[in-house]
Amino acid sequence: MEIKSVFVVGAGFMGNGIAQMAALAGYKTTMSDVAADRLEGGIQEIKWSLGKFLSKEKITREQQEATLANLTTTTELEDAREADLVVEAVPEVMELKKEVFARLDETCPPGTILATNTSALSITSIAAATSRPDRVVGAHFFGPVPLMRLCEIIGGVLTSKETVERADAWARSLGKETVLVRKDHAGFIANRVTVPGSLEAVRLVDEGAATPEEIDRAATFGADTGAGPMVIMDNAGIDVSFRTAMAIYDDTGDPRFFPPPLMRRMVAANLLGRKTGKGFYDYSTGQRTAYKLNGIPVLPGEDETGDVRDERSAMIMKRILVPMMLEAVRTVETGVAVAEDIDKACRLGFNFPMGPLEFSDSMGLDDVLASAAAIYEDTGNRNYFPPPLLRHMVRDGSLGRKSGRGFYDYPHE
Ligand SMILES: NC(=O)c1ccc[n+]([C@@H]2O[C@H](COP(=O)([O-])OP(=O)(O)OC[C@H]3O[C@@H](n4cnc5c(N)ncnc54)[C@H](O)[C@@H]3O)[C@@H](O)[C@H]2O)c1
Repeated sequence: MEIKSVFVVGAGFMGNGIAQMAALAGYKTTMSDVAADRLEGGIQEIKWSLGKFLSKEKITREQQEATLANLTTTTELEDAREADLVVEAVPEVMELKKEVFARLDETCPPGTILATNTSALSITSIAAATSRPDRVVGAHFFGPVPLMRLCEIIGGVLTSKETVERADAWARSLGKETVLVRKDHAGFIANRVTVPGSLEAVRLVDEGAATPEEIDRAATFGADTGAGPMVIMDNAGIDVSFRTAMAIYDDTGDPRFFPPPLMRRMVAANLLGRKTGKGFYDYSTGQRTAYKLNGIPVLPGEDETGDVRDERSAMIMKRILVPMMLEAVRTVETGVAVAEDIDKACRLGFNFPMGPLEFSDSMGLDDVLASAAAIYEDTGNRNYFPPPLLRHMVRDGSLGRKSGRGFYDYPHE
């Protein structure tokens, strides 16, 4: 069955972005919400965003008009009865998602695909609320949806191959680049791989081992923009990063994903980042400026020599990037995704100039292994325990770029 009509549940930040891109791609799109004012707000957002697209000549006036003509709104979930594909974007609460999916299952024809935009909940668990788990799929867009190109496609344990392929083709028809998450794996790819590094960055701040500015200068996967983990967390919201890490921890029981106490304190104090005016930085003047949280040990000052500063910068880089590289290796090792998709997800999801496996290949897998093993030995921190695949690759001489083969082949180097 061809997908012609799309129904989006939830008109918030993600829902209105998904509805906009579906309508722009030519689908008859209905955006729904329980709250009429959220629908109105969603339509205003869409009009504003289309206006931006038009002024930047990304779309024509005809496309702008056709997009709005393709869009309708409703407060009734039962209006999904005609939809070929439904995308759910209600708040990240399992019971709420299950309730919505159970009602959609009763409302929609058996052939309708039901997709969820969950960030970290299990697709299999959401699908269990329906009588059609083979037609339930994860379509994890990144926000703001009109600007971010990535969509992760995830099947639950009972999702059919056909459903995954159709959801993938649909997301690509909205202009998105998709990556396939081959298992229902908590945090999927981009969040799963980056969370261990982000949490380690918070621990460094908490210990007084580095300031947020130093971390953002050192740990950027080669970018010179200073858009490192603290800026990314402040932009996304500390509460969002906290909930994502907690969801992975709840699913895996792995202490590596347990958010450090400083993160809890910041959430409790409403220091959520850009949206509340303060997070790891202060935004109250309209600019991003540094400030000190009470109780964080004071670092040595500016009088440090260049050598000491360089050494610290290398230490920060390794403490934050190595856990991400190791998690990326584990993601390959467990068959969750292929190297290309892992790197693509991190580049497009977080604007990294290079993915963690490309970066590992450039650094040398033997160097990654040695750094991880040394930090693990020194600290006993399980974040740095080298996965068997990395040890095997190094033993077999697959060292990355310098040996001509690593996670990628470099035949001419
Ligand atoms: N915010 C992000 O950056 C981001 C990124 C990727 C995925 N997500 C995921 O997308 C989902 C939505 O997040 P958001 O940031 O858009 O949230 P949001 O709070 O901006 O929007 C949620 C909307 O759902 C509506 N809603 C609540 N219950 C409903 C129901 N029963 N039926 C219909 N509508 C209902 C609310 O009124 C609200 O307008 C979550 O699962 C979140 O984890 C968010």
